[in-house]
Parts: sequence; structure tokens; C-alpha cells
Amino acid sequence: MPLLKNIGYLATCKDEGEQGDIYPIKNAAVVWEDSTIQWVGSQSDLPKKYTGHQTHDAEGKMVIPGLVDCHTHLGFGGWRPEEFAMRVRGESYLDIAKSGGGILSTVKATRQATEDELYEKACGFLQEMAKLGITTVECKSGYGLSVEHELKTLRVYRRLAQDQPMHIVPTFLGAHTIPPEYKDDREGYIDLVIEEMIPAVAEKELAEFCDIFTEESAFTIDESRRILVAAKAAGLTPKLHADQLTSCGGAELAAEVEAASADHLEKISDTGIKQMAKAGVVGVTLPLASLYTQEEPLNCRKLVEGGVEVAVATDFNPGSAPTFDLPLAIMLTCNQGRLSPVEVLKGATIYAAKAIRRDHRIGSIEKGKSADFAIIDAPNPDFWMYHYKGANCVGSFINGERIF
Ligand code: NIG
Ligand code: FE
Repeated sequence: MPLLKNIGYLATCKDEGEQGDIYPIKNAAVVWEDSTIQWVGSQSDLPKKYTGHQTHDAEGKMVIPGLVDCHTHLGFGGWRPEEFAMRVRGESYLDIAKSGGGILSTVKATRQATEDELYEKACGFLQEMAKLGITTVECKSGYGLSVEHELKTLRVYRRLAQDQPMHIVPTFLGAHTIPPEYKDDREGYIDLVIEEMIPAVAEKELAEFCDIFTEESAFTIDESRRILVAAKAAGLTPKLHADQLTSCGGAELAAEVEAASADHLEKISDTGIKQMAKAGVVGVTLPLASLYTQEEPLNCRKLVEGGVEVAVATDFNPGSAPTFDLPLAIMLTCNQGRLSPVEVLKGATIYAAKAIRRDHRIGSIEKGKSADFAIIDAPNPDFWMYHYKGANCVGSFINGERIF
């Protein structure tokens, strides 16, 4: 049974207490067998039977559960650097989208890409993400917007899940925007999502979740409800991009359909907070998207005080969040979202695992959980985020295998 010892500070992040309770153990050790943790505790209490096996040395550093990026748009063709330059000079995300840029330009590039090309590109991202301490990635479709190309993207995720060490969680996002061929027939596209895409995705078991972009400029509350109710009936768990640009009742709808999470939420209403707390919907903050779209960041403290568990993710995509740097998103959630480093660490581990309904298996360092950890060259979470350095993950383990 492999052993990781000399852990100066172990953040267990078990699912108890409040947002800021990470239940640390100083001078700790962890033992696992195959992919599953068998023992966690103070090194001085390590049972004799666990010594003398394959030993990894954390050299007094901090060990955290493998980071969970619970919101990405990983599979896409092309890039959109020109839009970044336009936005920083003052053009808005919505105006760029209206003039033919935005999501639709990535749809064009994604449709042109082959399955192998999308696979290779995504593999490159996953390898870089593992070096940041990320061990689980939720991946949305949504740049295909036809039966053929949505299924193509989801098949890429299935291959990644089979071939790559990273844990992959696939989400269907056919209702990301209306594709150009349906621009004068919204109803026709919504029918296609409900009558063809959702049944095909469910039948082939290509996704666990169904997400939607609920927004004035994308899908209305009524359209979103219809799609999510159909998805739920087909066995997909709802998720929403909600209240990002306008306060339109997205959080309330998330509570109504018992979504696993509602994400973005910069414009969430007080009622939305109350209803999400009551329904146990995880709130996912995406500070990189606010940063890159020059929008006011979400005040996460308001959600935490209202009883919502807050997770943090990158929203990695080629438009509004073209980086997969989850530690940077964690740092922004401290400085702009007003959560302390321990609160955000819980948001990037066990609460992020809840947002993708994997908390029974990942997100904390406890007996019975997957042996996914990151070794961080910092003495504790406060110092990690205070003296922020992109490159202080010095080792990652997924399913007990050292992958970096
Ligand atoms: O999560 N909100 C919609 N979708 C993405 C943006 C996608 C894009 O710009 O390509 C988001 O921010
Ligand atoms: Fe997104």
C-alpha cells in the first residue's frame, strides 16, 4: 500500500461544518490501496502495518485534495484572441456576439474540427491542468449545436475519460445559443434539443448533466424550464448558467428544477439566494469570466451568509475565460469574491465535487475516497493564496498514481 508522508499541513476538506471548515491535520500521512484511500491521520499515529511500503515524501509541504474544476467548456475548435483585444478597448461581450463573434465563431471552428483534432487539443489542456493540481474536470459540449457535432464533442469526452488519468465529468450544453441555421426559428431549435439531442445523449449515456445558458440574450426562463424538465425526465441532472449579465430569475429556476448547481450568479437576487439555499443548489463562482468580460465580480460572501455552499471553477472557454488556471480563480475569489483562502479551498474541492454530484468519491482526503491529491509548496492555504505563484503545485496524484 503506497504511503504519502511528511505532510506539513493536510487539508482534508471533509463535508462537515461551514464553508471555512477544512479540518486540517498537521504532520500527517495518507495511505491508499489501488485507487482508494485507506488511512489518514497524524504521522505519529501511523499503524506499523502501513510502514515499509512504497513511500512518497511531501517534504513538509501542504497537501490538498486534488482540485476539481466543476465548470469548463474544454472541447472547442479555434481561439478568439481578437475579441479579447476588442473587449479590453471597451467593446462589450454582448456587442461582439451580436456582430457575429462570440460563441458562434467557436461553433463554426468546432464544427470544422475532426473528433481526433478536438481530442488532441483537449488532451494538451488536461496535461497542463494536472500540473496545477487539478484532478477532475467537468466538460461541457455546446459548440456543436447540431445532433452530429454535439455528439462528436461528447464522444471526445468519453475517450478522454477512458484514456486519460484525469477524472472527466461530461455535460450536455446543446442550449448554449441558437445556431445560425435556426436564427429565424427558435422554436425549431428548442424542439431539436428536446426531441432529438437529449434522447440521443441519454440513450448513449454520453452525459451526466444538462446545462443551459439562461439569459436574455440566450434562453428565457420558460425555454430553460422546458429544456431542463425534459433533460431531467431523460435522466440528466440540470445545471444552469444563471444571472450572469442580467438578473432574470435563473437562480430561482435552478432551485425549482433541483439543479446540482447554478453558475456565474453575478446578478443573483436576494430571493434567488434564499431559494438556492433551501433547495441545496451549489453556487459556482466563475471569477475568470468576470475578469475577462470586465464585469463586476460576484460577492460570494453574500451567498455564504445566505446559506449557499459556494464552489469556484474556471469556466475555461475560448471567449469569456480563455485560461484554465484554477489556482488563479481561487486567488480572485479571495480578493474579489471576499472569501478566505480556506473557504475557497473548500469551494474548489468538496463543494465543487458536490456541484458535479461526485462528492461520495472525490473532493476530500478521507478513508474510502479516491486517492487524488496535490502537493503544494506552501505551508498553509493562507500563505498559498497570499504569496500567489502560478507554479507551486509540485506533485499531483490521481487514483493513487503520481501523474506529475
Ligand atoms: O460560460 N455563458 C456562456 N458561455 C460561456 C462563454 C462561451 C464563449 O464565449 O464562447 C460562459 O461564459
Ligand atoms: Fe460557462
